[in-house]
Parts: sequence; C-alpha cells; structure tokens
Amino acid sequence: MAKIAIIGNGNVGGTLGKRWTEAGHEVVFGVRDPGQSTGSVNIASVEEAVAGSEIVVFATPYSALAPLAASLEVGARTLIDCTNPINADFSGLLPIATSAAEELAAATGSKKVVKAFNTIGFNIMENPNFNGHPATLLICGDDQEAKKTVRQLAEDIGFAAEDAGPLLQAKWLESLAWLWISMAAKFGYGRDIVFNLAKR
Ligand SMILES: NC(=O)c1ccc[n+]([C@@H]2O[C@H](COP(=O)([O-])OP(=O)(O)OC[C@H]3O[C@@H](n4cnc5c(N)ncnc54)[C@H](OP(=O)(O)O)[C@@H]3O)[C@@H](O)[C@H]2O)c1
Repeated sequence: MAKIAIIGNGNVGGTLGKRWTEAGHEVVFGVRDPGQSTGSVNIASVEEAVAGSEIVVFATPYSALAPLAASLEVGARTLIDCTNPINADFSGLLPIATSAAEELAAATGSKKVVKAFNTIGFNIMENPNFNGHPATLLICGDDQEAKKTVRQLAEDIGFAAEDAGPLLQAKWLESLAWLWISMAAKFGYGRDIVFNLAKR
C-alpha cells in the first residue's frame, strides 16, 4: 500500500485517485482550497497532502507546474508528472526547450521524476482493458526505483507498463500525447483508443 498525494482532482487526478483507492492505496488529494471541497474526507491542502505522502502525482494544467515546484518541498518522494504542455488554442504543444517533466525535475531538484499517465485519456485510466488486453502505459525517468514504483502503480490499475527510457524521453511522450489527443478529439477516432507496444 502506497501513500499517494494527487495534486489536482479533475479528470486525471480524480480518476487515478479512485482507481488507486479501489486497488488498496492511500490517496489524498491536494487542492488549492480544501474548504470549498465537499463530500470527500481525503482532501487536504497541497502542502499537507505532499507532507503525508511517499508519491506525489502532478495532475494539474502544465501552467501550474512551475509555481507548484517552486513552493513544494518534495524531498526524496517519487514524483509522477501527468501533465502535457498544450498550447492555448489547442493546436499542439507549447515550444518548450525540454519537456514538462524535465522542467519539473529541474525546478524541484528531484532525480525521481517519472513521466507517466500522460499519453492516454482519463477514460483509459478508468478502464485500460481493450478486448481482454491491457493498454500499454509508457513511462520514462532517470531513477530505476521510482520507475519500478510507477510501473507497479500502473499494473495495479490494469495497465501493461513499458519503460521508454530516461527522463529525456519525456519530450516524446508529450508529443505522443498530442498525437493521441488530436486523433481522439479532432480526427475522428474518439477517446477509446490506445497505442499499444508489440514485441517479438
Ligand atoms: N484529460 C485527459 O484525458 C488527460 C490525459 C492525460 C494527461 N492529461 C493532462 O493532465 C493534466 C490534468 O488534466 P485534467 O483533464 O485532469 O484537467 P482538469 O480536469 O481541468 O483538472 C485539473 C486540476 O488541477 C487543479 N489545479 C489547477 N491549478 C492548480 C494549482 N495551481 N494548484 C493545485 N491544483 C491546481 C484543478 O483544481 P481547481 O478546481 O482548483 O481549478 C483541477 O483539480 C493536464 O496537464 C492534462 O494535459 C489530461
């Protein structure tokens, strides 16, 4: 059982939190205004949620990453970056030099950032079963233990996790996310699609 803080309880954070809670993990949502949230006991301020966690999931808009990174003491926690740096007119990704995940690593000083859960829609997080086969979840990061942790969390909710390599690969996972988003939202496929890895 892992202690997981999820920053943001929208589509992605809410879905991952529900699934991990069902899988037996201890989830606390870190939100901007805990007083405004009703109906859930596992709501805290962002700082409180992070303080009580082993794993911190960033499930906010990309624009919130830098201020969050600047304000949080993450220590040796595993950090999972789900964000995608989508531009304002929803035509692609922002022209950032590296990737959201590498920016998070640089801003927090953490070596334990793992990019994950960004290349598929939240509906796939809700149900990763495709005709009896698990959806592939691509992850990347520099710390092997952190990736092992995230691989397990992905498998706990029904994904087949695949390690795409070090954190410098995050740029391509973010590009792959845009391919998924554009095919799903603009080019007729809808949201029930996934890119699966085949091996032989
Ligand atoms: N939607 C998808 O299918 C999908 C799939 C993979 C990855 N992603 C990526 O995952 C991220 C979240 O997407 P989403 O669809 O879950 O968005 P969303 O439904 O709009 O939820 C965003 C959450 O972030 C919170 N938030 C915003 N700014 C914050 C801040 N400064 N501090 C703390 N919390 C803050 C929001 O809280 P408030 O209520 O306070 O605004 C909200 O709970 C995005 O980067 C997106 O590109 C999305």
